[in-house]
Amino acid sequence: MIDFDPRSVYEAAAGDFSDARSTLYPYANERVLDGLRIRPNDQIFDAGCGAGDMAVLAAGLVGEGGSVLGVDIAPSMVRLARERARKAGVTHARFLVGDFEYMALEPESFDVVVCSFGIFFAKDVDATLRKLWRLLRPGGRLALTTVGRNFFSPVSGVFMDIAQSRLAALSIPQPWKITEDLADLRITATRAGLHSPCLEHEDYLVRLEDVSDWWRIIQGSGLRAITMLMDTKTLGEVRTTTEAWMREHDIRALTFGINYLFAEKLTRQRENEQ
Ligand SMILES: C[S@@+](CC[C@H](N)C(=O)[O-])C[C@H]1O[C@@H](n2cnc3c(N)ncnc32)[C@H](O)[C@@H]1O
Repeated sequence: MIDFDPRSVYEAAAGDFSDARSTLYPYANERVLDGLRIRPNDQIFDAGCGAGDMAVLAAGLVGEGGSVLGVDIAPSMVRLARERARKAGVTHARFLVGDFEYMALEPESFDVVVCSFGIFFAKDVDATLRKLWRLLRPGGRLALTTVGRNFFSPVSGVFMDIAQSRLAALSIPQPWKITEDLADLRITATRAGLHSPCLEHEDYLVRLEDVSDWWRIIQGSGLRAITMLMDTKTLGEVRTTTEAWMREHDIRALTFGINYLFAEKLTRQRENEQ
């Protein structure tokens, strides 16, 4: 199996990321921010902040008495996040290039921790989740979103099969699969010590104006990693074959399944009562 290197994949995908993200999962922001019950003055950590979509919205909710720290491993994503904050006039959100798996941050130093579509890129998901949980103060809230079953289906499966047929010797990396199953995600969360996590899966329909829209999505998503394994000629053939399949099956929408996880850390008082 080839390694999935999030830094190089998202460096390559950065230019297309915002377009793909706004097509593929605009719904996630509102639901996550709602579930986190963000309050004025909260201090927020956004692990794998990408282009700052969630962080800048969260900054608006905490107000200038609060703060947001966004960390991403891909420098181009951090540049996009800083630019987004600047355009929104947000001065209390900071963005740093870093690896959320290994960053040294003070335990119990945040009220809210969010990791939106990033945790599955960790080499050790259990340890990373445990670490994120430790960053929360008592009474703090954590939210994760992961790609669920129905990732961009039915096209992603067809695309993978066609790509795999051209890359026979290679095993295609799909790190998001590790957290796609809600029951497994619950086990992971429990192992990491999260208190009574609430999990839910929701399928969203992503309408395609045109068959070629799926390509825009791929370019700005983790699927970019698979396109990076092919030379231009092979890639062109894979794209044409996938689009022919989509036309033949009259595919006008994709299903995008999202897993949501919310957990709240007990306050010291409630911990003592238990
Ligand atoms: C699918 S994107 C999601 C971005 C953002 N959270 C959002 O919801 O728009 C995943 C992001 O996680 C980042 N990432 C992956 N592994 C990381 C790590 N170990 N440390 C920091 N960032 C990471 C990638 O660079 C990418 O920007």
